Amino acid sequence: MFISIASDHGGFLLKKHLVSFLEREGHHVIDRGCTDEQPVDYPDYAALVAQDIIGGNAEYGILACGSGIGMSMMANRYKGVRAALVHCDEYAKLSRQHNNANVICLGGRFLSSMDAERMVRLFLSTPFEGGRHERRVKKLDSC
Ligand code: RB5
Repeated sequence: MFISIASDHGGFLLKKHLVSFLEREGHHVIDRGCTDEQPVDYPDYAALVAQDIIGGNAEYGILACGSGIGMSMMANRYKGVRAALVHCDEYAKLSRQHNNANVICLGGRFLSSMDAERMVRLFLSTPFEGGRHERRVKKLDSC
């Protein structure tokens, strides 16, 4: 699976961990930075992953900042991107089952790497349920 990933300084260590994890799992990872813990602006990095999603370079995106909040705000400004701020296993599953999320946003300052790994695995392996959710998800891109 092609997965685009990025972080700011607040999510850098988590991103680094997830890149290794995803590569070990056999995914093709597009790492859009950042490259260390020097302060950067999260919108710049969310934009890179959002562009990979809408441009078809990646099926899923992963964004990490301190809280995950800023990344989700920026990514959701792109039509076609459905970014979910996830902080527990159930949210990881529901964001796929009901919302057909294509980007998972994580808080590097709040999640252990093991918890994040588990949530990412759930996110990537849970199918969209379609049905009644299809109509609602379509409406997300209607404005
Ligand atoms: C950076 O200090 C922090 O504001 C950022 O990583 C993120 O949490 C924003 O939503």
